[in-house]
Amino acid sequence: MIKLSPRLASVARLTGAGESVIDVGTDHGYLPVFFAENRLFKKIAASDINEGPLQSAKSSAREYGVEDKIDFYLSDGLRDVPGSFETVVIAGMGGETMVDIISNCPWIGGARLVLQPQSKIPELERCLNALGFICERAVLTEDAGKLYAAFSCLAGEGGVDLLRALTASRDPLLEKCLEKEEKRLLRAASGMERGGRQGSGEYEKLLGELKRIKEGLREVKTWQR
Ligand SMILES: C[S@@+](CC[C@H](N)C(=O)[O-])C[C@H]1O[C@@H](n2cnc3c(N)ncnc32)[C@H](O)[C@@H]1O
Repeated sequence: MIKLSPRLASVARLTGAGESVIDVGTDHGYLPVFFAENRLFKKIAASDINEGPLQSAKSSAREYGVEDKIDFYLSDGLRDVPGSFETVVIAGMGGETMVDIISNCPWIGGARLVLQPQSKIPELERCLNALGFICERAVLTEDAGKLYAAFSCLAGEGGVDLLRALTASRDPLLEKCLEKEEKRLLRAASGMERGGRQGSGEYEKLLGELKRIKEGLREVKTWQR
């Protein structure tokens, strides 16, 4: 049986089980192998934009004896994947790439998404909000000293706000995550100030994010009282 890293295990838990699933940008193919070994979905697919990673996913599936249980597609996002899927998993990629994949898929509004972005979370939230998604569950995981956020979402009213979802679930890693994010944003802000870019829209956006993080931190601190 395949053993997933803590980051991928958190994505697998959010994914759960059901009719059909596709892991977009699968690379090593560990998630589809896990789904197949545990018989979690009737239809399982894996896709990647690059031939090398797709071959690597096929060899993982061969190694674990589940090659015939998974369909493999060479595709930029979901462009060349036939049909539609109940659940779409996209993990370990930048938020901008996720935005591109999601906004170019005509049936995405009917799917449940499980996302684990590595960057650009506000941009991803904006895209999901524009498409009418709601956050179902969100979780933080620590893996090899790094923190990762993952969340599932589906069509609904209320929007996607990862910070709000993590605050609502009182995620035990939220304080650590917000402290790290605050430091990162403060470093970025002082870099922009040194470069004389205080008047730019980018700087204003950064200050807005910093304000949100500070408010989040204040809220988290009240939990310990
Ligand atoms: C860092 S790996 C992440 C692998 C795996 N999903 C994980 O979380 O461990 C990113 C993978 O996404 C693939 N990728 C990047 N852009 C893509 C796109 N537009 N469509 C499909 N796959 C893409 C890359 O080729 C690479 O294999």
